[in-house]
Amino acid sequence: MKLRRATASRLVVRAFAILWLALMQIAQAATAAPAPDPARGAELYAARCGACHSIDDNGAGPRHRGLFGRKAGTQPRYDYSPALRAAGFIWNRRTLDRWLADPNALVPGNKMVVQLAADPQDRADLIAWLRLATRPVPP
Ligand code: HEC
Repeated sequence: MKLRRATASRLVVRAFAILWLALMQIAQAATAAPAPDPARGAELYAARCGACHSIDDNGAGPRHRGLFGRKAGTQPRYDYSPALRAAGFIWNRRTLDRWLADPNALVPGNKMVVQLAADPQDRADLIAWLRLATRPVPP
């Protein structure tokens, strides 16, 4: 009986050790992803968005000033597609991430149908840059 109890407790200790190691690995994986880099986001914005967008002027696409917290497709003085005007969601990190991954999947029938940032790190960097650059009052 005593022996069995000792074996059982050894097993419990081993199970906890394995669990602990697994948790440590998960924690390490989570911190291994590089933090969003707004400077790299600025370069990506110029290269991939600049043909159609700027922060303060409408072009082929709408200007981006005041983007965060605004309802999609509602900036005055830009002629949005009926699809984006009717989308009804607010721009934040999560909605931007989905939009930049695949605009047409988030809002079918919108005018920005191209997929421009398939890489999650590219999107995180772009969003970090937009967060700074689109503040309602220019810095
Ligand atoms: C080929 C032109 C083009 C490129 C390149 C482009 N966009 Fe767009 N974008 C548009 C158009 C057009 C719309 C308006 C879509 C609509 O009305 O359906 C739009 C809309 C948006 C909106 C919604 C804004 C609002 O006021 O609701 C965001 C955010 C956006 N673009 C971000 C980006 C980012 C970030 C990039 C670069 C990764 C990018 N776009 C690249 C053409 C473009």
